[in-house]
Amino acid sequence: MTPVLIFGATRGVGLELARLLRRDGTPVLAMVRPRTDALPLLEIGADIMPGDALDPVAVKQALDALGAQGIVVSTISGRTEDGRYVDDAGNRVIVDTAAIRGVRHFILVTSIGCGEMMPFRSERAIAAFGDVVDAKTRAETHLKTSGLPFTLIRPGGLGNEPATGRGMLSENPAIHGFIQREDVALLIRQVMSDPGAIGKAYAAVDRDRARIDPIPEAGTG
Ligand SMILES: NC(=O)c1ccc[n+]([C@@H]2O[C@H](COP(=O)([O-])OP(=O)(O)OC[C@H]3O[C@@H](n4cnc5c(N)ncnc54)[C@H](OP(=O)(O)O)[C@@H]3O)[C@@H](O)[C@H]2O)c1
Repeated sequence: MTPVLIFGATRGVGLELARLLRRDGTPVLAMVRPRTDALPLLEIGADIMPGDALDPVAVKQALDALGAQGIVVSTISGRTEDGRYVDDAGNRVIVDTAAIRGVRHFILVTSIGCGEMMPFRSERAIAAFGDVVDAKTRAETHLKTSGLPFTLIRPGGLGNEPATGRGMLSENPAIHGFIQREDVALLIRQVMSDPGAIGKAYAAVDRDRARIDPIPEAGTG
């Protein structure tokens, strides 16, 4: 089975994905920062790659362990001590290293509102998440121009309830909505085995909690 290296597997969508893949018997490698609890990953039989996504040496070691036919998934998010977004800076390190090393498929989890979805952001969303969505968009652009086979997954607002099984992928830039983290993990697993997903950017929302918004007028939100 194709091994999968996850950056961001310690919680949220990344951990849900690790659980799903391990249930299938898929080998999972997970980069875990030194001060983060790796127990939930050890308990499911994931291989821990100690390190930080901002450290090119650690990232190279993890990619070497994965091998050129492996799949990379990154869900990382957060701020560095000097205020940079890991969403941009960390993903750049992973993309640059993977571009040298070679991987079968690079799946980057960003957010609704990234890239060509930008004009559909409300002023309220820009005020609340604008900076991080901009950082994620820079990471998306970096991956798109890296030459790697990629897929972008842009979830809507995330919930922690069990999967509804109603998650959907959409290329409509005006779509908004919510989705459970476990449903995002199911969609990532689906994309891994779909050659047609290479080069695509998808919003990920629950079909029962999706809506299509017009481009907001200035001053609304
Ligand atoms: N919250 C929402 O409603 C929402 C909406 C749309 C999109 N998203 C995006 O969807 C993705 C998944 O979100 P989530 O809330 O499920 O997960 P999350 O809680 O944001 O998890 C972030 C992961 O990134 C890891 N990480 C951060 N900095 C790192 C570094 N320097 N090196 C290695 N790992 C690092 C964290 O590890 P540690 O445990 O060590 O900190 C953690 O595993 C994120 O990219 C998020 O921004 C979220």
